[in-house]
Amino acid sequence: MELIPVILLLLVCPECILTENTKDPDLVCPSKAIGAVKSKDVLLPCHLEPPMDASAETVKWKQGKHVVHFHQGGKHNSSKQWEHFRERTSLSSEGLTEGNLSLTLSSVNHLDEGRYQCSVHTESMNKTCYIKLNVEPNVVCPSEYIEVRTGDDVVLPCRLETHVDTSGKILQWRHGNNIVYEKEKHNTAKENERNTNRLSLFPEELAAGNLSLKISSVRLEDNGKYQCCLISESIERNCSIFVTVVSAGDRRVVGPHEPVAVEVGQVAVLPCHLEPPSPLSDLTLEWTVNNSKVHIYRSHRDDPSIQDERFKNRTSLFKEELVHGNISLILTNVTKEDAGNYFCFVPKLVGKVQRVNVTLNIAPPPEKHKNDEEPCPCKTIIQHLGLRLGLGLGFGLPLAFCIIICLWMKYVGRFDGFAEQARGNQRAMPQDDHDGE
Ligand SMILES: *[C@@H]1O[C@H](CO)[C@@H](O)[C@H](O)[C@H]1NC(C)=O
Ligand SMILES: *[C@@H]1O[C@H](CO)[C@@H](O)[C@H](O)[C@H]1NC(C)=O
Ligand SMILES: *[C@@H]1O[C@H](CO)[C@@H](O)[C@H](O)[C@H]1NC(C)=O
Ligand SMILES: *[C@@H]1O[C@H](CO)[C@@H](O)[C@H](O)[C@H]1NC(C)=O
Ligand SMILES: *[C@@H]1O[C@H](CO)[C@@H](O)[C@H](O)[C@H]1NC(C)=O
Ligand SMILES: *[C@@H]1O[C@H](CO)[C@@H](O)[C@H](O)[C@H]1NC(C)=O
Ligand SMILES: *[C@@H]1O[C@H](CO)[C@@H](O)[C@H](O)[C@H]1NC(C)=O
Ligand SMILES: *[C@@H]1O[C@H](CO)[C@@H](O)[C@H](O)[C@H]1NC(C)=O
Ligand SMILES: *[C@@H]1O[C@H](CO)[C@@H](O)[C@H](O)[C@H]1NC(C)=O
Ligand SMILES: *[C@@H]1O[C@H](CO)[C@@H](O)[C@H](O)[C@H]1NC(C)=O
Repeated sequence: MELIPVILLLLVCPECILTENTKDPDLVCPSKAIGAVKSKDVLLPCHLEPPMDASAETVKWKQGKHVVHFHQGGKHNSSKQWEHFRERTSLSSEGLTEGNLSLTLSSVNHLDEGRYQCSVHTESMNKTCYIKLNVEPNVVCPSEYIEVRTGDDVVLPCRLETHVDTSGKILQWRHGNNIVYEKEKHNTAKENERNTNRLSLFPEELAAGNLSLKISSVRLEDNGKYQCCLISESIERNCSIFVTVVSAGDRRVVGPHEPVAVEVGQVAVLPCHLEPPSPLSDLTLEWTVNNSKVHIYRSHRDDPSIQDERFKNRTSLFKEELVHGNISLILTNVTKEDAGNYFCFVPKLVGKVQRVNVTLNIAPPPEKHKNDEEPCPCKTIIQHLGLRLGLGLGFGLPLAFCIIICLWMKYVGRFDGFAEQARGNQRAMPQDDHDGE
């Protein structure tokens, strides 16, 4: 009675019962290529399904004609192993008892790339499967430890060992567990919102395998471990950089030791700089005097919107010097009224001194007035003209003009300078009248 279904099945499908009896395990290799990083280890997976103890069987790994690994009689037989793989292969004896024939290949190099054959031979069966290995260059971080000061810019260096185009691969920069910057396969880059506009890659350099990340205006929270990760279909690789952000707490604004003195009409440079020299970056700089705004620089440019009218179009900074922390002010067309205590102020500077004062003195006009014998340059003019024109026609007119000017100046000097006059000291210019000598 029990034979009837078996006979029926045999008639419908003869292989069903035959294979059921001789069911051998299958040898399984992954269908997707395995990626390996040059000089790293790689595991080439291969196993028997369902599991079967293969430790006593013959297990052979080959690459083309070459023997990669030969396991026979319970141990590794290296007599036929290709020289290239010597001392670099291993099977796990524990794994073999569970039908795991995966091969570990150490210090992978470019010659290892190619198709591998995994096979097992028993008295009753010969099984084989194939697996492809791709070897790709590693990413390297040339500097592993970087120290940077807050406010400065820093480049975290990362590159591929060999120049390989990175298009088609995903580049991620991680800070701790967060992805702070990501370049997609099609080179579209996106930055984590938190760091808006402070992170960037070097797009022109990507094709040459330069994966470096630039961080602008470093902040204290940028401190920590960074990973440069390159992800392709078969492999993910990374290198790490430890960034130590030191507070620029020892930074300070430094002014001149002495007041600045210039003459009316000249250009005054009010010196001021950051010490130690470091870029102003996105910090705001304010130059003020008597609570009025002399010059404002913010978000990397001059902001004349709240500047005092008196200083409009008369102030500027040494733009190329800002990166070196030189925040000196240039004031043109100086007038007597410009004298005062100026403040050089960097409000958000994380540092000891944010503000210094620079005194601007407006000095008396040129030395020539000190010369009592010659209160006006008639002699010089005569000499010049005499040299050039001799006693020619042009001589009389300038001389007459000069004498008139000199008389006028002496008259004004006498009018305004009673004190000096009393000492027989003739001054020409009115602004000297409060000089207490
Ligand atoms: C290694 O294999 C070769 C041939 O396959 C054989 O002649 C030799 O005896 C084996 N060596 C050991 C130690 O089993
Ligand atoms: C085979 O062994 C390796 C470690 O030697 C392990 O990573 C892998 O997952 C194992 N494969 C199977 C199918 O158990
Ligand atoms: C396995 O292959 C070898 C030759 O490579 C052959 O001698 C042997 O008979 C085969 N065994 C089975 C069970 O097919
Ligand atoms: C990457 O390119 C930038 C900009 O040219 C350069 O400063 C940096 O040194 C390069 N980094 C590496 C690792 O080549
Ligand atoms: C970086 O690579 C190491 C192995 O080299 C791996 O353990 C780690 O998970 C990788 N990190 C990331 C973020 O992929
Ligand atoms: C400053 O210069 C701009 C043009 O350069 C001009 O329009 C403006 O009137 C000037 N302002 C003053 C106060 O001179
Ligand atoms: C700032 O730069 C100017 C122009 O190069 C230079 O003359 C001046 O001495 C510098 N000042 C400081 C404080 O470095
Ligand atoms: C500064 O003086 C020069 C001539 O010395 C003049 O051309 C210029 O207009 C003056 N600028 C201002 C803002 O007064
Ligand atoms: C600042 O104030 C002082 C005292 O009030 C005055 O002498 C000076 O001229 C003022 N300077 C400027 C540039 O406003
Ligand atoms: C700073 O201001 C004080 C007075 O407030 C003055 O005595 C001193 O000379 C100033 N320093 C400089 C460098 O101008």
